[in-house]
Amino acid sequence: MKVEGITKKFPGVLALNKVNFELFKGEVHAIVGENGAGKSTLMNILSGILHPDEGKISLSCSELKVENPYMAKVNGISTVYQELSLADSLSIAENIITYQKPLKRFGFVDWETMYKRCDNLLKLFDKKDLKPKTLVKELSLAEKQVVEILKAVSSEPRILILDEPTSSLSRLEVDKLFYLIRQFKKKGTSIIYISHHLREIFEIADRVTVFRDGKDICTNKIGEVKEQQLVTKMVGREIKTFYMGYNNISSKEYFIVDNISSKKIKNIKFNVKKGEILSIYGLVGAGRTELAKAIFGLDPIEQGQMFLNGSEVKIKNPAMAVKNRIAYVSEDRKESGLYLEKTIQDNVVSSKLYSYQKMGWMDDGQVKKMAEKYIGLTKIKCFSAKQPAATLSGGNQQKLLLAAWFQIDPLILIIDEPTRGVDIGARNEIYNLIRNMAQEGKGVIIITSDLPESLILSDRIIVMKDRRIVKEFLRDEATEEKIIASATGVAI
Ligand SMILES: Nc1ncnc2c1ncn2[C@@H]1O[C@H](COP(=O)(O)OP(=O)(O)OP(=O)(O)O)[C@@H](O)[C@H]1O
Ligand SMILES: [Mg+2]
Repeated sequence: MKVEGITKKFPGVLALNKVNFELFKGEVHAIVGENGAGKSTLMNILSGILHPDEGKISLSCSELKVENPYMAKVNGISTVYQELSLADSLSIAENIITYQKPLKRFGFVDWETMYKRCDNLLKLFDKKDLKPKTLVKELSLAEKQVVEILKAVSSEPRILILDEPTSSLSRLEVDKLFYLIRQFKKKGTSIIYISHHLREIFEIADRVTVFRDGKDICTNKIGEVKEQQLVTKMVGREIKTFYMGYNNISSKEYFIVDNISSKKIKNIKFNVKKGEILSIYGLVGAGRTELAKAIFGLDPIEQGQMFLNGSEVKIKNPAMAVKNRIAYVSEDRKESGLYLEKTIQDNVVSSKLYSYQKMGWMDDGQVKKMAEKYIGLTKIKCFSAKQPAATLSGGNQQKLLLAAWFQIDPLILIIDEPTRGVDIGARNEIYNLIRNMAQEGKGVIIITSDLPESLILSDRIIVMKDRRIVKEFLRDEATEEKIIASATGVAI
């Protein structure tokens, strides 16, 4: 595939500026770049969701006009979208097999074959819990991500586009995806792979192209370039590996979760101290998000108690959690995080609207001031605080979500996948912000699938498996190998 001189303008931004890009048959071509560099915009053009203002795409030397997603499919282009594209009220099977459904006589759908095909696909990721008939709305974000991947591969594409396919997957699922990618490569499929995890790029890609400010900066074979060089090209400056010192932790147990169970988690017991960052690790389906939801009042607690600063807190719904100053930053910014149609500034103040009232009216000046402060703190790339949140790139939406919760000043902050889709430069800024929250005496609970992140950020790590806590590590005793071993139940 050849992309020549593609330009795409949005109001106030030149998202792509005469981009050239070449994809060979059977190669894995990675694209890296800061949040807002234009990666997803190009992928949306290749998959027929957006139309370029200028430029040309050709496939096997003949020009290709991808006017809509259906034409992309017909031409063998299949995409795993960064902001998933599943239909929540349909089953896994209906979501995965949308194109060329198996049919019986008289054009009726052959459900039996469809479920069997879907079951075989689910086996690729070893997901025994997931059944073809399960509705997508019942899945966690990571499980949805697996379904999104299976949906894209089910049609045996010629070109497979993966836009941040692993942002909520843990290492074990990443391995399964890489195995799948290698199989596809052998069959001659070409793959475009976008990720902010450079480790993944060096593991799976044959070539890598850097995007910056809507331009393609350079393309290299993977063996000819070092990680540091890529980072410097992406952000235009050097970034040192991040190291965090020790937090100043009080010895008192500040937030205590005592033996709670819900429909989805069993007998969970742990505590967080004032000033501590605790992270929870586990494979997809281990029950981490379900734990957060139980604490925050989204899933009813069937037994057990919780204590904050010495007194019991009873939480039956999220409003009660917020009242007790417990915040939960959801992993799913699209579904349950942001108000996408509202402006950036409205989103920043959304969780604490009452404090911006002046004689019954919203104090616009105050809202603007606060929004600007947090846009600056989290380094959101935008042209105006009044642009809709939907027009931000994936990583910048993530920063906005954090900004909205940081400003309510909680005592206990639970963050599910804090840096999902955030680029390397901004990642460090977010780590700093989280650390500052802890330093101010809050208790921070981080749920992350990114092991290096967990090791950098946390004072203590607990590991979940099969909806229970199976292990706890202090920062100094934790290693990637040990954590993975307890998450998978394999002895080392
Ligand atoms: N629908 C839209 N309306 C206005 N601006 C948009 C729209 N979609 C994207 N943009 C802007 O285009 C630029 C490129 O965004 P894009 O989503 O392609 O970035 P990206 O490289 O995928 O970033 P990320 O790593 O955060 O996913 C950004 O400045 C973004 O705000
Ligand atoms: Mg993107």
